[in-house]
Amino acid sequence: MRSLINILDLSVQELDELIAIANDIIANPGKYSEICRGKKLATLFFEPSTRTRLSFEAAMYELGGNVLTVAGADSSSAAKGESIADTAKTVSCYADIIAMRHPKEGAPLVAAMNASIPVINAGDGGHNHPTQTLADLLTIHREKGRLSDLTIGLCGDLKFGRTVHSLIEAMARYEGIRFVLISPDELKLPGYVRQGVLEKEGIPYAETGDLEGALPELDILYMTRVQRERFFNEEDYLRLKDSYILTPEKLAGARADLAIMHPLPRVNEISVAIDQDPRACYFKQVLNGKYMRMALILRLLEVL
Ligand code: NCD
Repeated sequence: MRSLINILDLSVQELDELIAIANDIIANPGKYSEICRGKKLATLFFEPSTRTRLSFEAAMYELGGNVLTVAGADSSSAAKGESIADTAKTVSCYADIIAMRHPKEGAPLVAAMNASIPVINAGDGGHNHPTQTLADLLTIHREKGRLSDLTIGLCGDLKFGRTVHSLIEAMARYEGIRFVLISPDELKLPGYVRQGVLEKEGIPYAETGDLEGALPELDILYMTRVQRERFFNEEDYLRLKDSYILTPEKLAGARADLAIMHPLPRVNEISVAIDQDPRACYFKQVLNGKYMRMALILRLLEVL
C-alpha cells in the first residue's frame, strides 16, 4: 500500500505511466467506467476547495466507485478535538482510499502513517499539492508534447503557493528545464525549495519582479493567486494582491506557442479577456486534473 504525500513519492517512470493511463482514459473512457466498482473514496477536506474535491469525487464516480465525504472541519469530529491519527484510523474502517486537504503542513503525512489505506495529499497548508502537479504535468505534456527543454515562468505568490513548490520539485527531474521566478520580494520562493531543489540539483533559474520583461523567453507561464489565507495581516495582502495582472496588452511580447497556466481559483491575476486566447490552458488543466486523479486512484488501489 502506498500513499501520495509529496510528488517525489512518484518516480519519473511512475509519472510517465500515470500520464499514459490518463491519456488512455481520455481516448477510451468506457474501458474504465466500472473498474472501481465496490470501492470507496473518502474525501476529507478541512480547507475550502471546489476543483480538487469535486475532481476527486468525479474521478471516483467515473471509475464506477463510490464517495464518502467530509467537507469542512466544522462538520466532522475534528471540531470536537479528534486527532488526525484517530480520524485516519476511523476512516480506514469505511473507505478504501482517502484524499485529504488540511491547513496544517504535514497533516496528510500523519494521516498516512496512521491509516491502513492509501492517503492522497490534496493540499497541506502552504507546503505541497502533488495532485495539482499531476494535472499540470498532463497539461504540459498534452500542450507541448514533452516535459523536457522548457523555460517555465512561475508568477505571483511563490512563497505560500503550494502548487508552485510541488511543480518545481516535479519538473526539476526532467532535462533542460529552466525556471524564471517572478514575484514581489516578499513572496519569493522559500529557501527549502530554492536551496533544497534548484541549487541542490543545479537547475538554472532567474529571479525577477518584472513579468513583461520575462515573458518573451517563456514556453510556459504559470500564474498564481496571492494566498490571502496564509498572510499574517490583511494590510500586507491588500498591498500585494494585485502585484501581477496578465492582460492581452502584456502578452504582446509573448511567444505564439506560450502555454498560460493557473491552478485556479483566479482572483485578479488573469484578465477574463485572455480566456479567449488559444494560449489559455487553465480550464484544460481542470479537466486534466480529473483524468490524472482517475489514473492515480487506479494505481494506488492497485486496480491497474
Ligand atoms: C490551489 C490550492 O488549493 O493550492 N487550488 C487548487 O487546488 N487548484 C491554488 C490556490 O488555491 O490558489
